[in-house]
Amino acid sequence: MNNRDNDTADDNALYADPEVYDILHEPGTAAELRGLERAALLCLNGKNQRWIEPACGSGRLVRLVAGRGRFCAGFDLSRAMIRYAKRAAEAEGVADRAEFFVGDMRNFGRRKDLAAYDVAVNPINSIRHLATDAAMLDHLRAVRRALRPGGVYVVGLSLCAFGMEEETEDVWRGRRGRTSVTQVIQYLPPRAGSRVERAVSHLTVRTPNGERHLDSAYDLRGYNLAQWERLIGRSAMRLGAVADSMGRPVEPTEPGYFLFVLC
Ligand SMILES: C[S@@+](CC[C@H](N)C(=O)[O-])C[C@H]1O[C@@H](n2cnc3c(N)ncnc32)[C@H](O)[C@@H]1O
Repeated sequence: MNNRDNDTADDNALYADPEVYDILHEPGTAAELRGLERAALLCLNGKNQRWIEPACGSGRLVRLVAGRGRFCAGFDLSRAMIRYAKRAAEAEGVADRAEFFVGDMRNFGRRKDLAAYDVAVNPINSIRHLATDAAMLDHLRAVRRALRPGGVYVVGLSLCAFGMEEETEDVWRGRRGRTSVTQVIQYLPPRAGSRVERAVSHLTVRTPNGERHLDSAYDLRGYNLAQWERLIGRSAMRLGAVADSMGRPVEPTEPGYFLFVLC
């Protein structure tokens, strides 16, 4: 629980402690996966056997996909996350179908990743860690290369309503054994003229040995619908469908979280 060797650019205590991250995000993972898969099937053409998750964090989704009999690869900028994900996959008996590697969304892709995957998924706004159009276009080019023809990329992204959003706060809770984690996270919408949303997180970790607190903050790049669609239009992929978090086709609105199915 004290592995602090995070090497992401963010000052982000949440990502620096993979087990805390995993405890917090595990609840609801099965429902999330159902939504991602239903969304993928809106556009997927052909087989559905090999998945990949860019920015996979602790590998909670990768391990679940593998546990259900498919192959799934995952990569992340954080060595600590990847180390944790590998250990957890071994402990859960899914290591033969789950592969993890350290990589950057912007330029990932080993030789064996070329046209190797049917489905790529990237939920809960991780793609918004990419800070520029150029980085996003590089990323979408790398994903296109990793997908076989007919494969799809499901991106979970919250659209911004610039200038109209108030500061908001969420509280998340998770428990594993005798460890409980609570996260209070505030989202500070972009200031006028900016596209940078700030997330400020306060974590409380309680174990039988006591309580500790981890504070961190990180930035996410904001997109309204027009900006997002324009960028996809310039990319190596096209927008095939939009779904809600349960995978049902919807019309996207601002603000709101949607699954964008790129093909
Ligand atoms: C919110 S977590 C999401 C993890 C996982 N996708 C999930 O749903 O649980 C975001 C992750 O993005 C990773 N990350 C940030 N920038 C990245 C980049 N350029 N390339 C790869 N991973 C990155 C962080 O290290 C972190 O693990």
